[in-house]
Amino acid sequence: MNSLTLKIAAVCVFLFAGLSLSAEEIKIKIDKQYLNLPVSHDQDRSKMTFKVDGEPDLSVVIRLAAGNADYWVFKDVSHLKGKTLTISYDGNSEGLNKMFQDDVIVGQDNLYKEKNRPQFHFTTRRGWINDPNGLIYYDGEYHLFYQHNPYERDWENMHWGHAVSKDLVHWEELPSALYPDHLGGMFSGSAVMDYDNTAGYNKGKTPAMIAIYTAAGADKQVQCIAYSLDKGRTFTKYEANPVIDSRHIWNSKDTRDPKVFWYTPGKHWVMVLNERDGHSIYTSSNLKDWKYESHVTGFWECPELFELPVDGNPNNTKWVMYGASGTYMLGSFDGKVFTPEKGKYQYTTGAIYAAQTFTNMPDSRRIQVGWGRISHPEMPFNGMMLLPTELTLRTTKDGPRLFNLPVKETETLFTPVRDWQNLTSDKANDLLKEFYNTDCLRIKTTIKLSHATDAGFNLFGQRIVGYDMNSNTINGVFYSPEDMTSMELSADIYIDRTSIEVFIDDGAYSYSMERKPDTNNKEGFHFWGNNIEVKDLQVFSVKSVWN
Ligand code: FRU
Repeated sequence: MNSLTLKIAAVCVFLFAGLSLSAEEIKIKIDKQYLNLPVSHDQDRSKMTFKVDGEPDLSVVIRLAAGNADYWVFKDVSHLKGKTLTISYDGNSEGLNKMFQDDVIVGQDNLYKEKNRPQFHFTTRRGWINDPNGLIYYDGEYHLFYQHNPYERDWENMHWGHAVSKDLVHWEELPSALYPDHLGGMFSGSAVMDYDNTAGYNKGKTPAMIAIYTAAGADKQVQCIAYSLDKGRTFTKYEANPVIDSRHIWNSKDTRDPKVFWYTPGKHWVMVLNERDGHSIYTSSNLKDWKYESHVTGFWECPELFELPVDGNPNNTKWVMYGASGTYMLGSFDGKVFTPEKGKYQYTTGAIYAAQTFTNMPDSRRIQVGWGRISHPEMPFNGMMLLPTELTLRTTKDGPRLFNLPVKETETLFTPVRDWQNLTSDKANDLLKEFYNTDCLRIKTTIKLSHATDAGFNLFGQRIVGYDMNSNTINGVFYSPEDMTSMELSADIYIDRTSIEVFIDDGAYSYSMERKPDTNNKEGFHFWGNNIEVKDLQVFSVKSVWN
């Protein structure tokens, strides 16, 4: 394999007070698509530096395997064909000799077929992912950028990974969109289409896609922009970055995660930025010069702000502001100041974090994707995106509230295979036995409590739904159904290989969790609760999105 590489190794030896450290350097003339790198978690992280034709290009930290690899990661080098890549490594450099270029990644044959690979959620081929970033629709494609460490299944080296989809459910992973630079790692942010050429990057009729992101350095986090004229495939960073440096103003390192949108009534850009203890609003006419306007305390990381009609009525709208945890306020917004009126409320809990919504949508839907803090045992990748959901505001007995349901596009993945009504829990448990060995499933059910004060549904000992009617909680979180006398609860349950998402009462509340079956448990699917009625029970088979 190493014969594929033109390798010139030069060992430099440094002497420090009697200690000798070796930093080896290899040179590879790139003629393939990928550079494959072995990773071992027995190694400490050390700095790896890449130079392209002698020019400094990228510096990351990696646990390069000296002996056996736990798994392999890769760097897409297709854009470097014909160039010479010089790679140096500060740690044990034995692994340098094992790196090789190829047109496939190690494990390609088994890709998306791995034992614990989610089958209807987006995951990255290799490495770690967290927040969705730059969610935007443009010219037939939904773009999902995301916090990505391509070099390990733990958080580090923040890049913006990139995937595209035509339907929000089938994703194709593309090369990284933003790489760490001298200002720091590429932290979360958003993307817009600059139709009016306000930033001056458009070319002819092609509007620039502009990413607005945080560069996180050791001492401060600053806001930057980069533009793309090739549908997000490659970005050029603004030479005068950063566009906002507010560390001294807030006396805080925590100034990050810009979410930008066009405010039509005022004809200007709005940025919501998390700064120290809440969300600030900035405005701009050109995405480069920003003016501070206002601040709402009480939020942490990953701001969102958008307008939604109540019950679909465009003449009655509210603005929704939320942070990474998903707690939200409802209020009004005049382009410069968000005035909170109600809240905070919680529409979703569990594994979800740092959810963001799409801009530039082809229709009026407000679609959200959240990071699922879910790991996949023994896999060379970590984290996932939860199902894309549509957010709506509906009037409830307590006033307008956010509802959250999987987008209609997900329906194509689920085929109804069983539909039963009016069952006892024993009967329902019996009927579900035929699905014991199915690894992915969707189950929709409504249960009715009688003299039980709590009831629910388990999967191999794991509590999927635990409704305590006495204290009004679902899995420990307060919940009061719209009809508080009904004694009923409905749950739409999406079971993937490593995760479970549950949507209660048509999206009034939702939550997500890791799938952690108790391997000694023989119960399988198990409704429980004294004399409960399973009013309806529908089972759907699942099509993998990776076929
Ligand atoms: C939220 C977050 C963001 C930050 C990013 C770094 O999960 O901490 O605030 O930009 O992750 O990866």
